[in-house]
Amino acid sequence: MMQALTHSGDGDGDRVVAPRLAGSEWWRGAVGYEVYVRSFQDTDGNGVGDLAGVTKRLPYLASLGIDVVWLTPFFASPGFDHGYDVSDYTAVDPMLGTLDDWDALSSTAKSLGLRLFVDIVPNHTSSQHRWFQQAVADPTGPYRDYYVWAQPAADGGPPNNWVSHFGGPAWSLDPGGSGQYYCHLFLPEQPDLNWGNPKVMHEFAAILSFWCGRGADGFRIDVAHGLTKDPALRSNPQLRDVHEGMHPMDVFASFQHIYDLHRHETAVLFQQWRAAVTDLDAVLVGEMDTRDIDRFSEYVKDRNALHAAFVLQVGLSGWEPEHTITTMLEYQSKANGGAAWEVSNHDQARAVSRYGGGERGLRRTLALTTLMSAFDGMLFIYQGEELGLPDAVVLGHTEDPMSSRNGEGMWSRDVARGPMPWSTDEARGFTTAPVAWLHTEPLAAELTAEFQTDHPHSTWQRYRRLTILRKQHPSLWQAQFEVLEHGPMHLVIARGSLRIVANLGPAPVAAPCLAGAIIVFESADDAVQGAGRDVQVAAETTVVARIVAS
Ligand code: NOJ
Repeated sequence: MMQALTHSGDGDGDRVVAPRLAGSEWWRGAVGYEVYVRSFQDTDGNGVGDLAGVTKRLPYLASLGIDVVWLTPFFASPGFDHGYDVSDYTAVDPMLGTLDDWDALSSTAKSLGLRLFVDIVPNHTSSQHRWFQQAVADPTGPYRDYYVWAQPAADGGPPNNWVSHFGGPAWSLDPGGSGQYYCHLFLPEQPDLNWGNPKVMHEFAAILSFWCGRGADGFRIDVAHGLTKDPALRSNPQLRDVHEGMHPMDVFASFQHIYDLHRHETAVLFQQWRAAVTDLDAVLVGEMDTRDIDRFSEYVKDRNALHAAFVLQVGLSGWEPEHTITTMLEYQSKANGGAAWEVSNHDQARAVSRYGGGERGLRRTLALTTLMSAFDGMLFIYQGEELGLPDAVVLGHTEDPMSSRNGEGMWSRDVARGPMPWSTDEARGFTTAPVAWLHTEPLAAELTAEFQTDHPHSTWQRYRRLTILRKQHPSLWQAQFEVLEHGPMHLVIARGSLRIVANLGPAPVAAPCLAGAIIVFESADDAVQGAGRDVQVAAETTVVARIVAS
């Protein structure tokens, strides 16, 4: 006899959940949350989010079911790239708080069972870091070789054709007047470190140890794919012409980055990173902007490399279901369990907007995030995603140097960095200052945390059920992964007794495997349609179900 579909009920989010993996494997299957500190919560009224603000909101993150919080850089910094230009890796930017604030944050996190990832920036320092200042002041001194220097080309110009992510060449002349150029894959104020120099590893081992000693559980490694460069500094192959006025991202994509990024030598270096954190019991998750899956695999291989790395490819694209599914399956098979999945972060347009905006964008975001939750590795949510936030509308001038340095009006990462809308009152609860550091159009009251945490059918409640799902059903990321069906835009996966049916296409798909199953999660209320063997999964939704022995 055919069994009817049963829903496990929406109200089980509060029940006690299974503990995570113990010991150093805790990160597998964990759900992370990226806090863009400057836009999360301001507590001192200067218009900029701060560490005390993060502490204040940790209970909110714990109640969302988060396991680990990644905090964007809060170190001393002149702020040309909003903290990704570090002038002292063991000091807190006074605008964002103090070391005591960090200690309070860390002990509150521990008491709530939350882990913390510090965002370490090892590809470059700020030009105001004392290492660079000394490297410039004394070309024969011990710090010169901390950075990447080269003689000019024959015509006196930059040594090769490498370009900066933020526009212009990746080389600037030594301000000390030696006539040499220094390398910077980002702003001139962000000189690249020379990871060929073992002293640099030594310095960073001490920095990692410092933060672990103060409660960090791991690190997000900024530009992990960029640490080593071709020793001969060869020019990258050029794929197409570039011209004046092109967006720096398009210029950057016009070259094949085989000599400045994605080097095999970086995998060798990660062995030293891993050795440096093994006794600290810390987890390393690299930012990995590579399209070369084999290289990705090398970077997260075995126990002698990074624990995990972000799969940026999916998060960077628009709504391309066919391509996304194929890419995800490739990473699933080659990432050695070390993928960190996300649909957006502080460097991209928000997923809801990128996937078409409004209800449709949200539906797609949830369908894809639910599918990701059934893949091996970590799952990250970017602040505000749990509220279904669209791109911010920026008022006034652009903050992001990628666009402000190349002409106002260019697409800017500011759209992802708007202040968190906490409360339904007019100021939305981010700051008491008249204007936040990034001036954006106020969001609707229905998008605020206050409204949504109180509302039983909100996007926040659905995200909460999704994050908790990974704890309630560890086989979602742990049991053997088997693809039962792979259509161009849909995927049916078996993991133990779970069945995951992801339909990213525009029409419903038949899902006979759900007949008699208990539905444990739907990415939208109308995801499951029909009954018995005629059950279908609606367009752009994902369903997680548990089959029961008949
Ligand atoms: C990646 C970071 O996510 C981004 O915000 C930053 O601008 C660059 N790395 C340079 O550090």
